[in-house]
Amino acid sequence: MCGIVGAVAKRNVVSILMEGLRRLEYRGYDSCGIAVLKDGALHRARSVSRVIDLATQVEATAISSDMGIAHTRWATHGEPVVVNAHPIFSCDELTIVHNGIIENHESLREELSSQGYEFFSQTDTEVIAHLIHALLQSGVAEDLFKAVRLATKRLDGAYAIAVFRKQEPHLMVGARAGSPLIVGFGDGENFLASDALALAGTTDKFAYLEEGDVVALTRDSVTIINRKDISVERQVRRVHAYSGAIDLGQYRHYMQKEIIEQPHAIADTMEGVSGIVPELFGYEAEHIFKHINSILILACGTSYYAGLTAKHWLESLAKIPTSVEVASEYRYRQSVPNPRSLVVTISQSGETADTIVALQYAKALGQKHTLAICNVSTSAMVGQTTLHYLTRAGVEIGVASTKAFTTQLTALFLLTLTLAKLRNRLSTAEEDAYLKQLRHLPMALYSVLALEPQIIAWSDDFAKCEHALFLGRGLHYPIALEGALKLKEVSYIHAEAYPAGELKHGPLALVTDKMPVVTIAPNDALVEKLKSNIQEVRTRGGRLYVFADADSNIQHDDGVHVIRMPEHYGQLSPILHTVPLQLLAYHTACARGTDVDKPRNLAKSVTVE
Ligand code: F6R
Repeated sequence: MCGIVGAVAKRNVVSILMEGLRRLEYRGYDSCGIAVLKDGALHRARSVSRVIDLATQVEATAISSDMGIAHTRWATHGEPVVVNAHPIFSCDELTIVHNGIIENHESLREELSSQGYEFFSQTDTEVIAHLIHALLQSGVAEDLFKAVRLATKRLDGAYAIAVFRKQEPHLMVGARAGSPLIVGFGDGENFLASDALALAGTTDKFAYLEEGDVVALTRDSVTIINRKDISVERQVRRVHAYSGAIDLGQYRHYMQKEIIEQPHAIADTMEGVSGIVPELFGYEAEHIFKHINSILILACGTSYYAGLTAKHWLESLAKIPTSVEVASEYRYRQSVPNPRSLVVTISQSGETADTIVALQYAKALGQKHTLAICNVSTSAMVGQTTLHYLTRAGVEIGVASTKAFTTQLTALFLLTLTLAKLRNRLSTAEEDAYLKQLRHLPMALYSVLALEPQIIAWSDDFAKCEHALFLGRGLHYPIALEGALKLKEVSYIHAEAYPAGELKHGPLALVTDKMPVVTIAPNDALVEKLKSNIQEVRTRGGRLYVFADADSNIQHDDGVHVIRMPEHYGQLSPILHTVPLQLLAYHTACARGTDVDKPRNLAKSVTVE
């Protein structure tokens, strides 16, 4: 979602803020902006283009200051035009950046309008700016710190904010509830940011603000007050965010880099796994795993598809009933809670508001056993769950999730094995065999990555299409869903996935020679059925693009293009079959010339509901 960075220092902070924005741009890229205090006045530059354009403006104005805030926006309230770009001003005296959504903005807007405040943007953020200003103006709050504390008590919704005003020149105030905000500590300087990566190389000392915290920063002090108005300390940790993580190196796009990084990411996610033991998920895992009798998985998007894949594993190998719910739906439907269910949330960012709210709802229904599979150890989701497995995919910058997905699958397979073992459904020989397969996975992935030239050849055909169908069966149906999602996200081609057996129940009507049909063909128990489905398409003139396991005996034919995968990889086959679909989406997008890493209308880390 939006990215925030702020600094109060004794040196010029503009380059720190601009570098922070560059690193946060993956969170949202509808617009960006920077505001500083210089010679007692607020100065601002904003752009509806990318950070690089803002940098040109900033250089041209030679703007410099020892205090400032900057923002990169994913638009919610108000379209992406300059007046809606942050930082937002109130009365040319106070400036604010905001990540989140204020749900009661309309009533506050009315109230502030009746007090004479004029609104220049359609944003909910301007409401916060004026509210803080009004509290100061009326004398209800004697200083900015107090005004922000009072103002945030009136906000419903999610926010992370950073604000300063010209009357208190060396003070910056931040606050968070529902959206992330961290404090960075320097020597004679302090910072605010949405994540540590923004400040990598500037500081490695961070405190993670908690829900409802308000923080006052000067060059030499950091004061935090919690939502009960009590002064608190938050643990200061060393976080080695690696600024090199955002270097593209030899790659053209982050998506490409992150696809290629998957063998490493999976090896790192497996690091430290010498056997299948509950402790992999936390100290209380054994006790909890023995108590539960079902699993409820909550997630969104790609992470949801990881959950759908895991359902097959959990039910077939661990024999534990598993349901998988789209988090944004679960929260708003009446379900039947099971207090003996393990609630598993899956998330790359650990910030996804829909998943966090669904988790809170599941807990409120009395389902207290919770486990997060997450790529960010310091995220809100990890903080709100009892058990965890941290995937070690490394920073994922491309908006389309790739390495996060395959590492989630790796973690979910480990969970399956752990539960199967505790339920006496995994022999020692099977455990050894699965562990061996998991350890060999990075090598197997290298051989799939080597198929890239053949996939590039296909991508030219796909680039000319406006629609595509993806077929899979069983364990590979969620992989077909993921393949279709990747293609639509980055290439803007309309793509749909079906379980291959469903084709004849409707979607076959769509099949013509204009509609490529991507088929995932592992050599599993369903392969013969799948071959019949392939024929159903072929006899209607459909064009098939089949990813077939080497031993599946599916041959090239007229209208049937085949890329031969390695031999069937058993239960872990979905992980191998994901990679060519990612490459197909990536190269098709490149052929169509889309902005692969920043697809239109999307953002990484969706921190609003
Ligand atoms: C798709 C994609 C999204 C995310 C979804 C959940 O490529 O990236 O569908 O998977 O927004 O995000 P996380 O995993 O961060 O909760």
